[in-house]
Amino acid sequence: MEICVIGAGYVGLIAAVAFAKFSNKVICVEKNGDKVNKLNNGVPTIYEEGLEELLNECLEDEKLLFTTDINKAVRESDIIFIAVGTPTCEDWNVDTSQLFNVINQISSSIHNYKIIVTKSTVPVGTQKNIKKQLINNGVSPSKFDVVSNPEFLREGKALNDFLQGDKIVIGSDSLRAKSIMEKLYTPFNIKILFTNPSTAELIKYASNAFLATKISFINEIANFCTKTGADIDIVAYGLGLDKRISKEFFKAGLGYGGSCFPKDTKALVKIGEKYDSNFDIIRSVINVNDKQRLMPVKILLEHYNDLENKVISILGLTFKPGTDDIREAPALYIIKELISQGAIIKCYDLMASNEIKDIYPTIDYCNNVYDCVEDSYCAIVCTELDEFINIDLKKMRDKMQVGMIIDGRNIYNINDIEENGFDFYYSIGKQNKN
Ligand SMILES: NC(=O)c1ccc[n+]([C@@H]2O[C@H](COP(=O)([O-])OP(=O)(O)OC[C@H]3O[C@@H](n4cnc5c(N)ncnc54)[C@H](O)[C@@H]3O)[C@@H](O)[C@H]2O)c1
Repeated sequence: MEICVIGAGYVGLIAAVAFAKFSNKVICVEKNGDKVNKLNNGVPTIYEEGLEELLNECLEDEKLLFTTDINKAVRESDIIFIAVGTPTCEDWNVDTSQLFNVINQISSSIHNYKIIVTKSTVPVGTQKNIKKQLINNGVSPSKFDVVSNPEFLREGKALNDFLQGDKIVIGSDSLRAKSIMEKLYTPFNIKILFTNPSTAELIKYASNAFLATKISFINEIANFCTKTGADIDIVAYGLGLDKRISKEFFKAGLGYGGSCFPKDTKALVKIGEKYDSNFDIIRSVINVNDKQRLMPVKILLEHYNDLENKVISILGLTFKPGTDDIREAPALYIIKELISQGAIIKCYDLMASNEIKDIYPTIDYCNNVYDCVEDSYCAIVCTELDEFINIDLKKMRDKMQVGMIIDGRNIYNINDIEENGFDFYYSIGKQNKN
């Protein structure tokens, strides 16, 4: 099939290479010309395991091409996937302007039947609004169908999730579109759930809100463990043995981050308001998460009282391992708060996207973890990278001014901490030393 994917970000790029892998002819449109040049030369613009190899394979087989020419790409394709950003506004409304800009850009190029697919996460009812907009722009309703096909990939495992996910959700009222989408996805051999567009749109928000709820829930239980002497890892294990609960997404830590959970939980609350649905649970999930990610700052202030000119080391900047994505990462919030308290920030994460240097241009970006902890009053583990898990704790302690770790990802063991001479150790819901 001839496919166009608009937006070569985390979702669009992965979708483009995955469709090309199954012998479709894919044109991926990206407005950023630098990205287009890199991608056409086989250089991935994001880090995802296996992406570089598959990208180069598809380019060599001439199944995949990147371009800035959206109209040509649309004219030459049967199915148009839209995978542009749908960020949250300050007031938690979803900003769908990138999506509707695309609709306006492509309207004049729809001369024969096309399926317009939203891969982006969009509020319930967006499919209807896209239809209206296309008709307002003069496109005949016989020339298109709009389909909702939300994406469930996880960054860090994106390619694997796209190729071997649990489900594909297709929301469409058109039998013609449904049958073409089925043909496209059959080679993936993944269960397909066909439904109407509003249901498909809501499945995406409900999934993310539920997963975020699991994280905030386990973090609240973890905070209670800290007060009572219970061990969160064993509590979570015990909970997960119950098949009705499942062990997934029960790792206590600094809360959720990334480009999806923070924005999609807020968006669902806002969408709910329009229908007089208050979503009390999700509001609480957001509140718990807001507090959780700043937990290290609370601990530091209780410990030191004053952080002025104290060196604090941030180990890990991305919101999770296996990705370069720093969007909504807890580390960003912690750094912001520590700067406002007058602390001197040293950080280390070679994987993190360079965008962080635009956000915090003046902090110290170290080239190795031991330089990062040198003279430090506390090391805060924000991402559970292997490099931190396997660190030489003795060497780390020797470099630090004060032997203090706030382990926001529970990667260390209290016995190892004590054996290597640390004086203070704070975890999330496990045994502390203070
Ligand atoms: N990142 C994830 O893990 C993930 C998972 C599932 C769903 N989603 C959803 O998928 C959508 C995309 O997310 P993302 O993380 O890939 O975003 P992203 O910001 O990484 O990528 C979007 C890309 O679209 C490009 N773009 C914007 N307008 C364009 C236009 N008019 N023409 C061509 N290119 C254009 C941007 O330059 C950017 O490269 C969002 O709605 C998001 O909620 C994301």
